Amino acid sequence: MNRRTIIAGNWKMNTRAQSGVELAKGVAAAVGQHPSVEVAVCPPSVYLGCIADVLAGSAVGLGAQNLYPAEDGAYTGETNAAMLTDIGCRYVILGHSERRAILGETDAQVSEKLAATLAGNLVPIVCVGETLEDREAGKTEAVVESQLRGSLEGLDEARAPGVVIAYEPVWAIGTGKTASPEQAEEVHAFIRKLLADIFSEDVASQMRIQYGGSVKPGNAKELLGQPNIDGALVGGASLAVDDFVAIINAGA
Ligand code: PGA
Repeated sequence: MNRRTIIAGNWKMNTRAQSGVELAKGVAAAVGQHPSVEVAVCPPSVYLGCIADVLAGSAVGLGAQNLYPAEDGAYTGETNAAMLTDIGCRYVILGHSERRAILGETDAQVSEKLAATLAGNLVPIVCVGETLEDREAGKTEAVVESQLRGSLEGLDEARAPGVVIAYEPVWAIGTGKTASPEQAEEVHAFIRKLLADIFSEDVASQMRIQYGGSVKPGNAKELLGQPNIDGALVGGASLAVDDFVAIINAGA
């Protein structure tokens, strides 16, 4: 099964209007019109509109870092799928470990957000990953399995191929400690087996699984060369055009 590599930059809460516009312009110019990999950037929500203007007509997709799973209404401070679509978003990151750890986001909430994302015809990037404590206790697979099953609860098999999974070991995020290609591949293969169990071999073989956690130009090629690694979700290195573009090129 030919899964198109997908590289997404998660800018987290790290840019301003000007730095984001420059970053988006640089990425769009370097990626060109017909990249062999799918590329997206996910700016802070307040800048989605101005980055959408920069990316208009380019091959770089726009993504949000979160959404609220409800129709328009009295939800102070929140943003829904219809608004994200309206402003030109195509992707939404869901259940990032920072949201799980800092904002207490649960698998049940992620599954509601997943349903809302798909109902809005946006592409979800669903994040799962173990902490260092989990890994050292030998619980990596158990934690990843329960997050994956919980987050994908209720997902219709027909929509599953359009869902992107991001495996992001928490101990590798922003720490400079990357999972080795073997460590990452082992969990990716496990995730694909779980997806086959939840849906079917056929569906699992179509679903893309990104790796995230200190992906850099120097380690991207080896990680992306693993059979079950279909892309990268990049934090720190997505904030510098040259680094992000080098990672994109490593996946081409
Ligand atoms: P990092 O972040 O590349 O800075 O480790 C990855 C992520 O959190 O998506």
